[in-house]
Amino acid sequence: MNKSLLSLCCLVIVLCSAGAEAQDFVQGLEPIGSVSSFTKADASVTFNCEDGSQVRVSILAPDLIRVRASFRKSLPARDHSWAIAKESWDAVRWNLRETPAGFVITTDELEMVISRKPLLIEFRDAKTHHVINADERPMMFDARGVNTGMMFDPKAGTFVACAKKLGFDEHFYGLGEKAAHLDKRRGYFVNWNSDTPAYTEGKDPIYQTIPFYIGLQHDVAYGIFFDNSYRSYFDFGRSSQAYASFGAEGGEMNYYFFYGPSMKKILGRYTELTGRMPLPPMWALGNQQSRWGYYPDTMAEEVVRQYRERDLPLDVLHLDIDYMQGYRVFTWNRERFPNPKELTDKLRQQGVKVITIVDPGVKYQPPASDAKVEDATEKPELAPQDKSYYVFNQGLKNNYFQKRQSGQLFIPKVWPGESAFVDFTLPDARRWWGDLHRAYLDNGVAGIWNDMNEPSDFVDQTGGNQRDVVSYDEGENSTHAKNRNVFALLMARATYEGLERLAPDKRPYVITRAAYAGIQRYSTMWTGDTTSTWDTLALSIPVFQTLGLSGETFVGSDVGGFIGRGNGELLTRAYQVSFLAPFCRNHKVIDGYDQEPWRFGKYYEGIIRKYLKLRYRLLPFLYTVLEEAHRTGVPLFRPLVLNYQTDENTVNLDDEFMVGDDLLVAPILQPNQTSRMVYLPEGVWYDFHGGKKFTGGTMIRIDAPLEVVPLFIRGGAIIPEGPEMNYVGEKPFDPVTFYIHPDDQGKASTTLYEDDGTSPNYRRGVYRRTRVEVATADKGLDITVSPAEGSYQPSARKFLFVTPFEGTARTVTLDGKPLGAGGVGGQSVGYHSGKGAVGIAIEDDGRAHKIVVRQ
Ligand code: GLC
Repeated sequence: MNKSLLSLCCLVIVLCSAGAEAQDFVQGLEPIGSVSSFTKADASVTFNCEDGSQVRVSILAPDLIRVRASFRKSLPARDHSWAIAKESWDAVRWNLRETPAGFVITTDELEMVISRKPLLIEFRDAKTHHVINADERPMMFDARGVNTGMMFDPKAGTFVACAKKLGFDEHFYGLGEKAAHLDKRRGYFVNWNSDTPAYTEGKDPIYQTIPFYIGLQHDVAYGIFFDNSYRSYFDFGRSSQAYASFGAEGGEMNYYFFYGPSMKKILGRYTELTGRMPLPPMWALGNQQSRWGYYPDTMAEEVVRQYRERDLPLDVLHLDIDYMQGYRVFTWNRERFPNPKELTDKLRQQGVKVITIVDPGVKYQPPASDAKVEDATEKPELAPQDKSYYVFNQGLKNNYFQKRQSGQLFIPKVWPGESAFVDFTLPDARRWWGDLHRAYLDNGVAGIWNDMNEPSDFVDQTGGNQRDVVSYDEGENSTHAKNRNVFALLMARATYEGLERLAPDKRPYVITRAAYAGIQRYSTMWTGDTTSTWDTLALSIPVFQTLGLSGETFVGSDVGGFIGRGNGELLTRAYQVSFLAPFCRNHKVIDGYDQEPWRFGKYYEGIIRKYLKLRYRLLPFLYTVLEEAHRTGVPLFRPLVLNYQTDENTVNLDDEFMVGDDLLVAPILQPNQTSRMVYLPEGVWYDFHGGKKFTGGTMIRIDAPLEVVPLFIRGGAIIPEGPEMNYVGEKPFDPVTFYIHPDDQGKASTTLYEDDGTSPNYRRGVYRRTRVEVATADKGLDITVSPAEGSYQPSARKFLFVTPFEGTARTVTLDGKPLGAGGVGGQSVGYHSGKGAVGIAIEDDGRAHKIVVRQ
C-alpha cells in the first residue's frame, strides 16, 4: 500500500470511528430578552419579554416543571410531541411570588427562581434552598444565522440552546443509546438517528435519540428532558468548564426539569411523562437465536433441532430479511418457506416462537403491464408479487407514502432497491401498517423486529437525500429535519398498535433499532450492528445501563457481536453478560462466522449451556425485576450508582452492573483474564457460586476462570428461582425456591411477582404478589409469608425456602404445628437441616404463613 493511500485509509478510519467534533454551539447566539410582564394561569406562568419572546413555566408536579420558550415571537398555540404519554396532570399546590429581582415559584419540593434582567432560571430545593441547577446565561437562539454552518436544513428552523452552570463534581447520565462511558461528563453528543454498522466507542451519533439526561452532584440528582426532535446537541463540559449546554437546530426551547433527589424518583417521573414499558410476554425473557439469515425452512428447523438435541434452552428463532419475496415486507418466499404456518406450528410444538424482521422500505413496484389480477387473493402475502405488489399498491393508492416538497414520491434505496417509506405521522397510515401484520400473525409469527428505521437510506446515510421529504405531522407538514428522529418511534407505534388490535389477548412483542424518547411504550430494543470484539463487549455494559437510565428497560445486543470474527472465549464471556440482560439474542451478519453456542466446540458450549440454564432458573427473579421496571420505570439492568447514589465509588463504575437491587455482576471483559477486582458497596454480599460471605465498601479480587462470571447476591435479598427448563412454560414454576441471604441484622425479604406471562390481564389485577420476610430470632429464624395479593392463580405447587443456618434445626413449625423432617427435593412438605443450611417445603395456598425454625 503506498503512503498516500495509507494516510487516506487512516483518515477514513478516523472519520468513521470518531464522534462528531465538538462545536461550542452557544457561541454567537442571542440571549432571550428581559421580562417585562407576566400572566398567571392555573398551573403556569407566562413571562413576556422586552424583545417579544415568551417563556411559559408549567407546574406539572411538585418535582416536575416544564419550561417552554419562543424567541422574538409568542408561543404558538400548537403544542404537540410524539414522546409525551401524559398530557394532563392533577393540580398541585404552588405559589408565585414577585421579588425586586424577579419571581419565585414554589412547590412542595422545588423553588424556581427567575430573575427578570437578564432572564435566568435557577432550580433550588424548596426545603434547604440549595441550588440544584442554574442557567449560566439566558436561553438563546440564532438571530443572525451564525450557526447555520451546522444546520441540516436552515430553512426548517432556528438554532435554540440553553447553558447550565457546570458543577465541579457534577456527573451526567443518560441520552439513551450512546457509544460512550456511563458518566457523560466532558462528553459531546449529537442526536440524529443514524445507521452505523460496526460502530465502536466514540462513534456518535448512532441509532437512537433520547434527549434526556440526569445530572448528579453531591448525592442530589435532577433530570432534564429536552423534548425537541430536531438534530440536537449536548455538551457536558467539553467546550467549556463553566457550562453544560444543550441545543437543537429548530423547534422550540422546550424542556422538562425533574427533581429527585434520587435518580430512581426521576426515572419514575420521566416514565410517567413519556410512558412505561408494558410487560412483554414472559417468553421474551427466554433465549433467542438469530442469523442473517436462516433459510430455507429446513435450516430453521435444523437450528431448533440442534438446540433441543444439545439440551440448550431456546424460546425464539428470528427470521431475517431472506424469508421475504425479494425483500418485499409482508410477503413470504414460497420457495424457501412453502408453508410458513406449518413451520411456525412445528417450532411452537418444540416451545420455539418465530419473530420476523420488518423494515420500513416498501419495494417501489408499479404493477407490471401484464399484471392480471389486482391483488385479489385472500392471503396476498403467500401469492407471487413479482408482477404486482399489494403493499406498494395499497400505500400508493391511499397516499400513505412520503413525498418530497415538490409532491413527487420520495424513493430511497434500501434492501429491495428503490423503495417508498410510509408517512407514519398519518394516523390512517399507521393503522394500515399495523393491520398488514396479519400477514405474520396468520402464519403463526409471535413478534416483530423493526430494523433500518433511522430511516436508513443507502443513497445518503446522513439523511441528505431526505432533506425535502415532508410528513403530515398533525397538519404541520414539516420536513425531515423535524421528523427523522421520530420515524422509528412512530413505526414501532404502528406495529405495536397493530399487534394489539390483531391479537388483543396477547401482549405485543416488538424490537427496534432506532428510537426517540417514549419508545418504551411500544418496543423493546437491541443495540444494532456491533462488532465481535472485546472492546464492544466492554462497551455493552455502559450502553445497556445508559439505556436503562433513559427509560428503556428491555435492552440487549447481538450476543457475540454482529460483524467480524469472534471466538469461543469471546462468545462465552458475552453470554456471561447477556444471560442477565433482558434481551438475550445471539445474531450474526450474513458473511460472518457461524456463532450459535456450539460453533466453537464442546468446551465453550458446556459453559454457555450452564449460564443459559441459570437464566431460566432465575426467571421468577428476572420477571419480578422486569415487572418493577414496568411499574416504576427503574430498569432491570442497572449501574451501581442507581442503587448506591450516595456512594461516590460508583459514579463512573461501568464494568460491573446490577440486576434489580439484588444481583451484582462483574463480568470478564478481556481475553485471557482469570481474575478481576470487584467493587462491592457497603453491606453484606454472598458469592453466588458457593455462598462465601463478603463485607462490602471495598474492592476485592475474585477468581474468574472461563467457567465463572463473578456474581454476588446482596445481603438482605431473597432470590426466587424456578426449575431448570428449556423454554418458558415447559414446566410450571414448581417448586419456587426462595434462596435467603440475610443481611448483617439477619433480615431478608422479597416480593415475588407472577402472572400468566402472555395476556394483558395483568393490567386488570390478574397477577400475584407473594411477600416473604425473614428475621433472625434467638437460636433460629422466622419466615413470614404474607397472603398473596392479586387474582392470578398458579397451579398447585410448593414453596421451598433455603436459608443458611448455624447448627442443626431441631424444631420447625408451620403456623404453630410441627413440620416433619424430609420434604426438600421430593414433593412432600417438611424440612431438612444440614451443612449449615435449612430447607423447608410448604404448599403454596396463597394464604399467610409463619414458619419458625429453632435449634
Ligand atoms: C441490519 C440489522 C441486522 C440485520 C441486517 C439484515 O444490518 O441491524 O441485524 O441482520 O440489517 O437485515
